[in-house]
Amino acid sequence: MAEPVSTDIVGGCCPPSDSLFERCGWFYALCREHLFHDHSPEIADGLWGGEGPPAGTHLLELGCGPGFYACRFAENYPHIRTTGIDLSKALLTRARTRAAAMKLQNCSFHQADVHQLPATVGTVDSIVVSRLFLVVPNRDDVMREIFRVLRPGGKCFVAEPVQSARTQFPLSAMWLLAKLSSFTKVPYVEPHRVTTMTEAEFGGLVQAQPWQDIVFRRDGRYQFAVCTKPAGVEEVSAVNTADLLEPCIA
Ligand SMILES: C[S@@+](CC[C@H](N)C(=O)[O-])C[C@H]1O[C@@H](n2cnc3c(N)ncnc32)[C@H](O)[C@@H]1O
Repeated sequence: MAEPVSTDIVGGCCPPSDSLFERCGWFYALCREHLFHDHSPEIADGLWGGEGPPAGTHLLELGCGPGFYACRFAENYPHIRTTGIDLSKALLTRARTRAAAMKLQNCSFHQADVHQLPATVGTVDSIVVSRLFLVVPNRDDVMREIFRVLRPGGKCFVAEPVQSARTQFPLSAMWLLAKLSSFTKVPYVEPHRVTTMTEAEFGGLVQAQPWQDIVFRRDGRYQFAVCTKPAGVEEVSAVNTADLLEPCIA
């Protein structure tokens, strides 16, 4: 039987004890599995086209929650490596359990803040970001980090919901569950209402970075961007991910 993936922490940061994702992560994981759309085909096509990812590709999932995409792509493409990053210890534990149950050896999960990724992340070939900008306090900082850690020529795929009513349900349910299960008033960091981005706001956020190419798309419930970093841009981080994260993978 395969060993479970790493439980090492990369960023050295502390989890917010007052996050709804920490307290009600199980509920979010249920929603992710059964309620939200699975965009795996669109992500694979956007990042790698019909050929699929070349061998050795390193895919980063930022704000991975229960690790849905990191596990899915590690399973679909055994010749690549995936890394999920999240702040929530509870969700990272779920992600690791999921990867272990799927017997994945090419998938690991680490705790870090996406506003300031640790040097150990190094540079990566591809990044997937799904439903993350709904909850982060500073979207511009996160987008800057995405651009920074991508290798020249690397691509990121961003998927963000556009409908507040449908998107609101998990957050409201988590607030209710958290209130029902705590006797004192807890100041959770998440807002009560989700703020989805308009098309113009989403465009502005993505275009603030000097991408070589951006492809925008919208369907009924989501807006997407596939961004390519210019091949000529100098690598900002000199640290190589393979060297630093490899020993963490069991
Ligand atoms: C709405 S969930 C999205 C999860 C997953 N990407 C999906 O598609 O379902 C947002 C995730 O971002 C994580 N998160 C929020 N703020 C973060 C931060 N500053 N750094 C890292 N992860 C963060 C939360 O813990 C949660 O797992």
